This record gives sequence, C-alpha cells and structure tokens, in this order.
Amino acid sequence: MIVLSVGGSLINPGTPDVSYLRKIAEVLRKNRRLGIIVVTGGGKPARTAATAVKNLGGNEFMADEAAILSTRQNAHLLIAALGKRDGHVVVPHDFDEAARAALSGRVVVMGGTIPGLTTDADSALIAEKLNAERIVNLSNVNAVYDSDPKKNKRAKKFKRMPFSQMLKLAMRSDERSAGTHFIFDVFACKIIARSRIETHFVHGKRLKDVENAMKGKRHRGTVVKD
Ligand code: UTP
Repeated sequence: MIVLSVGGSLINPGTPDVSYLRKIAEVLRKNRRLGIIVVTGGGKPARTAATAVKNLGGNEFMADEAAILSTRQNAHLLIAALGKRDGHVVVPHDFDEAARAALSGRVVVMGGTIPGLTTDADSALIAEKLNAERIVNLSNVNAVYDSDPKKNKRAKKFKRMPFSQMLKLAMRSDERSAGTHFIFDVFACKIIARSRIETHFVHGKRLKDVENAMKGKRHRGTVVKD
C-alpha cells in the first residue's frame, strides 16, 4: 500500500487542470496493483473559500470546514478522471472509511478530514494506520530544500535526509511569520518520524519521477528515511 499526497495547486490552480488530472490518473491506473490511496489538497478554491468565511466573520474552524469541501471536490475530480473501473467512487471522510475503501482494490481518493489539519497530515495518518510502505508527496517544488528555492537562489537541495533533519527543517519554518510555507508541515513530519514512514518528495508534473517514487526507485526529488 502506498499513499500519495497531491498538492491542491496541481489539481486546481483556480480552475481544475483537466489535462493534468488525465495524466496523473493514467499513472495511477498503470500502478493500481501497488494499492494506492491518494489525498488531494485544496488549492486556490480552498484558500478563496477560507478567506471569504473569515471576511464574513466566521472563525478558523469554519474556514477549515469550507476548505475541506474544496479538498473533497478535488478528490471527486480525480475520481472522475480515474473512471469507475479504477477509482473508488466514494470519497472517504475519515480514516476508517478510507481503510474500508482500500479493500475495494481500486484507487481510493480522499480529501481532508477534520479542521486544524492539512492534507499532508491526513496522508501521514492514513499511511500510519495502514502500514503503508511509503508516502509520495507531489507538489510544485521538485525536492526538499533548506530554504525556499523560489526566494533563495542558493537554497540547498537534499537528495536524502533522516526523519530528524526533516522535522527540524519543518519546525524552523513553522516558527517564522505567516506566509512562509514548508513542503510538509510539522504534524505530518512528526507522524512519519514516529512510525519511520519512508517519504518521497517529487515535482507532481514530472510524471516519471512520480512513478519511480511510487515504486521506491531513484528519482530527482528527495527521500526522507533513516
Ligand atoms: P491543504 O493545505 O492541505 O491543501 O488543505 P493544499 O492546497 O495542498 O495546500 P498547499 O498547496 O500545500 O498550501 C487546504 C486547507 O483545507 C483545510 C485547511 O484549511 C487547509 O489549509 N484542511 C485540510 C483541514 O482543515 N483539515 C484537513 O484535514 C485538511
């Protein structure tokens, strides 16, 4: 069993990226025998909804509830791209439902679960529950860096690092002001560290890297393991 965490901005940068959804669905279909659970992020619609809720006077919990619906909407998009032969048609709302859905043998696609979390944390938790062999994180960044590669040209790229170092990097970025954003949040890092879940970070659009990471083969991203 493997878990894929797909950044929402890959699926839905504002409007659904139908061409990307078709391509990533094809990769999942081809590798269905690995046993795949995908957790989709919210992307721009999640941020827009959360901001609107807060502008209207809603609290953080309510903003998260609205954002979770965007993550689930993105799950439905990917399920549509997979088709009912390869994709499980129900979007699980919690970890038990996801575990049950995994018995179908089809690719299971879920979004968020409860307010206060991120879909990275959900990916780590479902991977832990199901003793997944590995997590593959797909984002707009090709690897884990010691600082934001979009802001710092000299950011150092890691090919491989232990859990302790990944957790340190996540905590360092968590301490900084709002808006800074590390590739995997602290909670998710703590879960993969405590259960030693091998986690791969690749650019979601480098489909060969995605496939290699799913199989535990070499790729141009980062592998976190001891
Ligand atoms: P994510 O932040 O995980 O999605 O969820 P994303 O689009 O991949 O995020 P980036 O691109 O890494 O920034 C979107 C929002 O949904 C809510 C949170 O508000 C989160 O910011 N959410 C998600 C929850 O409240 N609980 C969950 O379990 C998952």
